[in-house]
Amino acid sequence: MVRLFHNNGMNEKEKTLTAENLLGTRIERMFSSIAPWYDFLNRGLSLRQDVYWRRALVKGLQLPSEPFILDLAAGTLDVSLETVRQHPQALVAAVDFSLPMLHRGREKLAAQGQPRILPIAADAMALPFANDQFDGLTIAFGIRNLPDRGAVLQEILRVLRPGGVAAILEFIPPEVGWRLQLYRLYLNHLLPLIGRVFSRHAFAYRYLAESIVHFPPATAFCQELQEVGFRQVRYRRLTFGVVCLFYGRKA
Ligand SMILES: C[S@@+](CC[C@H](N)C(=O)[O-])C[C@H]1O[C@@H](n2cnc3c(N)ncnc32)[C@H](O)[C@@H]1O
Repeated sequence: MVRLFHNNGMNEKEKTLTAENLLGTRIERMFSSIAPWYDFLNRGLSLRQDVYWRRALVKGLQLPSEPFILDLAAGTLDVSLETVRQHPQALVAAVDFSLPMLHRGREKLAAQGQPRILPIAADAMALPFANDQFDGLTIAFGIRNLPDRGAVLQEILRVLRPGGVAAILEFIPPEVGWRLQLYRLYLNHLLPLIGRVFSRHAFAYRYLAESIVHFPPATAFCQELQEVGFRQVRYRRLTFGVVCLFYGRKA
């Protein structure tokens, strides 16, 4: 595994003192602590819909042959694996800042003898790549966890080559109405309970609920993508609108 962190020109003290960095540390610890249960709970809590969501995310990416892909917030590498399943000639750089999550992913790579995915420990807020490197980028259930979404979208644009496409999969709050009420009941009560029973980390699942309701609606997020500079922005809701696929192209 490759570890690449750079500090945006700040010294270590300055870096440690930023609120964003503190939040990032907390999030990193949270994912590291649930890593052993992450895949199991994902499948269970979504009734295996998560597998279908990632498949749909990668299917919507239009890629050249032998593409170079960045999978950001790659976690246990499910999206990276789906990418090489659909595009066997792809090379994937899989970036996450949680080593335990990447280690779980590496076990899967070893089990499948998969050499085309390179796990890299790094922070999505300061990507250790030169400009214009990647043909495509995937980020599934990651953008919601990043303290400065605008800054990360800029980073994504920077490392995509011109014409490259970003594919984002995220939970979004359903539009108003009974669906929202029902979903809130699930998020605020059932989800933390199941999370506590299985992973003993109810906080992680409370955090999940809160971060989902605070994520912007689909049209507002598309607007953010356009404002940062993405073109041909489109979205597609899945599973009663609780998750959404977003695509945007670098001009
Ligand atoms: C909900 S998981 C998603 C994992 C994977 N993409 C999937 O589809 O299951 C979110 C991941 O984002 C990572 N993450 C959150 N903030 C990050 C950051 N600033 N830099 C790198 N990884 C980050 C976490 O460590 C975690 O593995």
